[in-house]
Amino acid sequence: MALKRILSGMRPTGKLHLGNLHGALGNWVELQNSGNYDCFYFVADWHAFTSEYSSTEGIKDYSIGMVIDWLSVGLDPQKSTLFVQSAIKEHAELFLLLSMITPLAWLERNPTYKEMKAELINKDLSTFGFLGYPVLQAADIIMYKALGVPVGVDQLPHVELTREIARRFNFLYKEIFPIPEPLLTSVPKLLGVDGRKMSKSYDNSIYISDRGKVLQEKVSSMFTDPQRMRKSDPGNPEICNVFTFHGLYSPEAKVREIAADCRKAGIGCTDCKKMLASRIAETMAPIHERMDYYLNHMAEINGIIEEGNRKATVIARRTMDEVRAAVKI
Ligand code: TRP
Ligand code: SF4
Repeated sequence: MALKRILSGMRPTGKLHLGNLHGALGNWVELQNSGNYDCFYFVADWHAFTSEYSSTEGIKDYSIGMVIDWLSVGLDPQKSTLFVQSAIKEHAELFLLLSMITPLAWLERNPTYKEMKAELINKDLSTFGFLGYPVLQAADIIMYKALGVPVGVDQLPHVELTREIARRFNFLYKEIFPIPEPLLTSVPKLLGVDGRKMSKSYDNSIYISDRGKVLQEKVSSMFTDPQRMRKSDPGNPEICNVFTFHGLYSPEAKVREIAADCRKAGIGCTDCKKMLASRIAETMAPIHERMDYYLNHMAEINGIIEEGNRKATVIARRTMDEVRAAVKI
């Protein structure tokens, strides 16, 4: 039986952090390794332009860097198709055709659109491209006739819009597109070192690539239980971000021990963080090893991307032949 095709993308707007790793990216790797899916993962570099159009110089390097992060954490080009959106011009053509049939009201009422616009107040997002963001996303998804779209909750409205656009295309022209389902990714609540949501725009992230002194210093600067002023004060691990990280990086027995010691002031935050830093370093070591390998073999990276682009192009061309016939152009 053919594997179920799934597709997801990430915008290359910076280095990936541990929040990304334990959320979307980790899920991508799991889906790939489950053996149940034909996975397509791509760099959504045109989507990055919707908000970064006035300073685009980082996007190309971030795209390559992102693929290196992906490979380092275990995405495998033998198992998954990894490609770059802007290399597959068919996305632009499908986007154009879908834009003809997408009612403006669907886009204007999109909650993600409203939220992003409200959040990124230092950018002028009153553009045609930004409003059309979900139409481009719909093109990305239905181009490959994906049945599943692994995403976090923030992206659910976009997948819903994709479903509506696909249905409308099928209704107006021809039943070409299956209606994709979201595959919801659960995201653990990892905060940045300052206690706010981990985000590159807050400059509070621990990056997948962080190691050695940088990693140690970031971990040692992490906010802990704010009530715990002195080492002799008992702490509450439940409200401590360092403890949440221990849950991901330390063995279960150790996590229980830390919780108990913290509650009776048997361990200080400095020691607790030192333990965490070495646990993260240990867990990330094989990832960093692969990262070093790829950084020293850039030609291989380019080859992997070219091969992924080639595979994606074959499908995109086939779909566009069907689409052009259906719309009679
Ligand atoms: N909008 C997604 C995000 O910001 C990225 C994206 C673009 C995407 N095209 C997609 C995700 C298609 C899934 C499927 O995270
Ligand atoms: Fe957090 Fe550890 Fe300090 Fe407890 S001891 S408050 S878990 S850093």
